[in-house]
Amino acid sequence: MAKLRVGIIGTGKKKARPDQFGYAMAYRHADAFKLLDSCEMVACADIVEENAAAFAEKYNVKGVYTDYRKMLAEVNLDFVSVCTWMHLHEPMVLDACKAGVKAIHCEKPMADTWGGAKRMAAAADKAGVKLTFNHQRRYGEPFVLAKKLLDEGKIGQLVRLECECGNIYDGGTHFIDMFSLFNNEQRAKWVLAQIDYRTENLVFGQPCEGQQVVLTEYENGVFGLIMTGAGGAKPIGCVDRLIGTDGTIEVGLADGKPIRYRLAGEKDWTVPDIGKVSIHGPGFIERAIADVVACLLEGRKCQLDASNALIATEIIFGAYESSRRRGRVDFPLDIEDNPLAAMVKNGDIKPVKATV
Ligand SMILES: NC(=O)c1ccc[n+]([C@@H]2O[C@H](COP(=O)([O-])OP(=O)(O)OC[C@H]3O[C@@H](n4cnc5c(N)ncnc54)[C@H](O)[C@@H]3O)[C@@H](O)[C@H]2O)c1
Repeated sequence: MAKLRVGIIGTGKKKARPDQFGYAMAYRHADAFKLLDSCEMVACADIVEENAAAFAEKYNVKGVYTDYRKMLAEVNLDFVSVCTWMHLHEPMVLDACKAGVKAIHCEKPMADTWGGAKRMAAAADKAGVKLTFNHQRRYGEPFVLAKKLLDEGKIGQLVRLECECGNIYDGGTHFIDMFSLFNNEQRAKWVLAQIDYRTENLVFGQPCEGQQVVLTEYENGVFGLIMTGAGGAKPIGCVDRLIGTDGTIEVGLADGKPIRYRLAGEKDWTVPDIGKVSIHGPGFIERAIADVVACLLEGRKCQLDASNALIATEIIFGAYESSRRRGRVDFPLDIEDNPLAAMVKNGDIKPVKATV
């Protein structure tokens, strides 16, 4: 069988210490594609020529471009990875859909506006393109085990999900996507939230709140509680807590334990031995991309599909909208923009400039 011809947009520049100005996620995608016999990386594009050239040399990629549109026009691609910052996801995904690729795997978060996220999903649907987002935690052992324990009925019926993360938009998309995994892709009914954005905090160029409290209710009555950026304080004490009628599961504990659970009436926690893994890896992205490719080849819907990513994205922009409205926001979310970015732009919120 002919190999899938893969193109990468936004190669990044490999750095010794990645940060919010560059993780070079394209290298993580490429390491995953390299493991797959079904795929061949044939082209890459980065607006910075030396970034594209360095990536092409490392992965032996023949087509090297500074203009991704030229790459899409000249190279016959089956699969495109979009690894740029979020304000570029929408235009790049729309262009790749028009170019006639079969699949697009895009970095998270989906887009820089709620309207953009919806347009990407709609364009992919219309063009028959499989559009997925890199919420790789769905392939991480601690999260997979938590879901398995929940499905086995270990903690009874799910009542509430809790999480603690730096901000709801950039990092938070992973956390809320885990809520979707645990809660069987239920959509939320409403969200009520308040943010604090007293100091400018730009993550990949986008404003992200300094602190936030969010409550949401899913259609099946499960509640989600999200606490962000408590400045070092740990209001939740783990990255994910699943509370059931008969017990609790915690994932990503402050002391480094990846997972533990306690059944109702028990004093002690059970700590399953799942080896040397954290909530970040290793192997999550490799397994995520392998599954995206397998689903494409077998014609199955992947759990990283845009339709699932929209569930978390609606909560993210809905939470910012709740702050703007100073009230509860009922879904479907009837806005198009990014309310936090809009409030900063029009002066409703005036953060102190950050000194980097
Ligand atoms: N899945 C995860 O766990 C995870 C972790 C970190 C970052 N991310 C996400 O990955 C995305 C990319 O982040 P990164 O840190 O890898 O970025 P990066 O800065 O390392 O790389 C992005 C590259 O895109 C290039 N670029 C910019 N404009 C372009 C254009 N018009 N055409 C082609 N190339 C262009 C830049 O020159 C840069 O080299 C972000 O959305 C971020 O949120 C995901």
